[in-house]
Amino acid sequence: MPILNDWTRKIVALKILFNADGFPALVDEVFGDAVFKEEEFYREKLTENMHTWYDGVPTRTPRAIKLFEYIAYRLACDESVTAQMLMRSTFDEFINLLPKARRAEAQGKNEILPQSIFMDDDVPVTNLEKTDNSIRVRLKRLNTDIFPMYVFEDGDAPSVRQAAVGGAMDQRVFYQHPDSAVFWESIVTAQHYPTYDKCKYSLDKLWRSQIFLDEMAHNPPDAIVMLGGGGAFGKDVSTISAFLGTGSYTEANPLRYALFDISPWMLRRSLARLAAHWTQTDWGDKVAIELFTGDLMKLNSGARKRELRHGAKFVVWSLTGGTIGNISEAEFFRSLNLVSVPGDTLVLSASVKLRSTVQKAEEEPDDESTSRYLSPSVKSLLRNPLRDLIHELGSRKSVSSVMDALKTRFENGDLEGVTNVPDSHSMIMTADIDGFPCDVFNHTSYCPDALVAFALTKGWSHIDTVYPDHFSPDFAQFYFKKD
Ligand SMILES: C[S@@+](CC[C@H](N)C(=O)[O-])C[C@H]1O[C@@H](n2cnc3c(N)ncnc32)[C@H](O)[C@@H]1O
Repeated sequence: MPILNDWTRKIVALKILFNADGFPALVDEVFGDAVFKEEEFYREKLTENMHTWYDGVPTRTPRAIKLFEYIAYRLACDESVTAQMLMRSTFDEFINLLPKARRAEAQGKNEILPQSIFMDDDVPVTNLEKTDNSIRVRLKRLNTDIFPMYVFEDGDAPSVRQAAVGGAMDQRVFYQHPDSAVFWESIVTAQHYPTYDKCKYSLDKLWRSQIFLDEMAHNPPDAIVMLGGGGAFGKDVSTISAFLGTGSYTEANPLRYALFDISPWMLRRSLARLAAHWTQTDWGDKVAIELFTGDLMKLNSGARKRELRHGAKFVVWSLTGGTIGNISEAEFFRSLNLVSVPGDTLVLSASVKLRSTVQKAEEEPDDESTSRYLSPSVKSLLRNPLRDLIHELGSRKSVSSVMDALKTRFENGDLEGVTNVPDSHSMIMTADIDGFPCDVFNHTSYCPDALVAFALTKGWSHIDTVYPDHFSPDFAQFYFKKD
């Protein structure tokens, strides 16, 4: 039976052509305003299915046919080009089925290079300003617009050497490599890692919810700060669109949208993609985008509080993508509380587990959980820091052999000291380098009521919890307000 050929490469090309960062965005862009019976269900189910197409979906599958029919139509392919041809073709044949004008783009040849944004010779020196202990760099975007970027000096940076001494790798290290943003993008669309899509879906749902719109009407925030916010271009676009859609922001009173991340590489990637997208929107000066590099665990250090709030009465703080599951929750809230004020809101995305399933998951971890964390795309992000760690320890082992022997175990997270939230369930990944065991990564899933109770002890009251859809009770957006 014929199957969808070369999906791994075609999906990369389609993401570029439709300027989409994941399956939901691609489906939205491809179908546009087209309406289907049981609309929401259809699109959700389709994006769920697309994660499995890497294994080869039969080209007779109706949802796949419909998607490729629309792709041919939206890309204005020649009338002779059918969905079957687009599906069965090899990647090179697929490129030739596209209109000539789109072929180079589909192969990534026209991508705007981040460097062209960061190192624009035309930007006059006066656009570099030094304030207290931050440097504001004005970056020229395309020909006319300007993004400011702030760089903070953070003191001690996490290092591989620390991991070699302490036997545990700090997750911040993974995003310090220049290739990390590209690896992260491959995780986002990977078969075994649907978390990004679930997060984006539930975030979209939250922004459209009545409870959020009511909050906006009463206390319109002046700024959104996306903490650990690099590498989430699709969430940036849908968040900015949703906020501007409320009509609360004008050119005289713009929305400040700040991406705050420890990794300049992740920020750079977001910036390149946002800049490219900008020209297709009517956002104009209704939103002011700012980029900050720094550690979200030290939000109050230096001039940060002033620069982040920038006189804003209310700020929406956001930590998406399940990043809370990789860090100390107590430390995060302590840091956040130093810069937030009563009336601010917080959107926290987290993996969740029903209390009844936690113990079972620890005793019998299912294959899906294990393969998700040991999948090639997730391992690609670990490869460079692991190579450095092996070198630091003076081992002769190859990085591949260490990667192949990575082990995951599932534990009650608070008993293991991995998390501060009771009843949590943590995955701990360990590498063994010549008998030196090193915890390289951990990720915690929470019982929703325990996370809500924990936030309350830190002064944040629960407003709402939004799940992506009825298929995915394992991920949620928690919406809080500071007391
Ligand atoms: C799992 S990725 C999530 C990316 C994306 N924001 C999302 O929502 O899908 C984690 C991001 O958090 C950033 N990060 C991790 N620890 C951080 C820290 N301590 N301070 C600032 N950023 C951090 C990483 O650089 C990376 O961009």
